[in-house]
Amino acid sequence: MQDQAENLRQMVERLNAPLAAEKPSLAHANCRVIAVTSGKGGVGKTNLSVNFALALATRGKRVLLFDADMGLANVDVMMGIIPQYNLAHVLNGQKTLAEIVIEGPNGIKLVASGSGGVQELADLNETQRKKFLDALMALQNQADVILIDTGAGLHRNVLAFALAAEEVVIVTTPEPTALMDAYGMIKIIYREKKHPAINVIVNMAANQAEADEAGRKLSILARRFLNLEIDYLGFVPRDPSMIRAVKEQKPVLLSAPTSPAAVSIHRLSEALLSGKMQKNNANLVGFFKRVTQIFGGDA
Ligand SMILES: Nc1ncnc2c1ncn2[C@@H]1O[C@H](COP(=O)(O)OP(=O)(O)OP(=O)(O)O)[C@@H](O)[C@H]1O
Ligand SMILES: [Mg+2]
Repeated sequence: MQDQAENLRQMVERLNAPLAAEKPSLAHANCRVIAVTSGKGGVGKTNLSVNFALALATRGKRVLLFDADMGLANVDVMMGIIPQYNLAHVLNGQKTLAEIVIEGPNGIKLVASGSGGVQELADLNETQRKKFLDALMALQNQADVILIDTGAGLHRNVLAFALAAEEVVIVTTPEPTALMDAYGMIKIIYREKKHPAINVIVNMAANQAEADEAGRKLSILARRFLNLEIDYLGFVPRDPSMIRAVKEQKPVLLSAPTSPAAVSIHRLSEALLSGKMQKNNANLVGFFKRVTQIFGGDA
């Protein structure tokens, strides 16, 4: 615990340090980088990321979905895609970033991290890091919204992405354990970033009343103990279509477009689009620069 606190403190220092190589010309003002994360595992991050990507694409956004989870049940599995190459191949020099981008449904673009991809980000030397960031620049110009699906919990691999993103969507269920873990995540992000843009979505709710009550509890906790306003965006109901979709490896927006889950995801994607946007450093290169900096120091 002590170690973790120390690690986090070092992360903050790195985050607050000026980004020496950040050139204003890299800025891509209209690109949003949104990390989808959670305190507790299995709350629906990957399903929501995939379906948000599709929903945003139907609203005319160019979407890049970046799978930053090292686990197995990932974006590619949910979409029934088997990526031949992933981030690990880019980082070890076998492939270029452009070569590993997969075209998904609705024109969304997908980057898979592979089981070692995220870890290797931590071990890049200066030359590799620069090469990688250069390659990202080309990619960011092809996207309006970049969604990062992270793993769960207060681990370094997750926090690096959650802290580096301009905006965070925290997914929780209405269960008390999930809510407390969501609060734990909010607390850490708040402590590191001071003015974070945090959106909350309640997934797998029995009904609107249950979801709103959960959203309200989290908002009250954040206001009372952190003096922080979070944005409760809304909820996705517990829906058997979602479970079927996972089994069929076809996102619910495509397999059951009129299901309650799909309808609510469309509604939430509107809310996400009209949400506040943090414009400073809103680009993929800046984002990964921060990720590698956070990873870099005390790996
Ligand atoms: N709205 C929903 N209704 C019913 N079941 C759902 C819903 N959302 C997700 N699920 C179920 O929860 C499971 C976990 O979802 P998912 O893999 O997206 O969670 P995750 O947060 O990404 O998990 P991890 O922390 O392991 O990355 C899915 O396999 C699906 O069956
Ligand atoms: Mg997941």
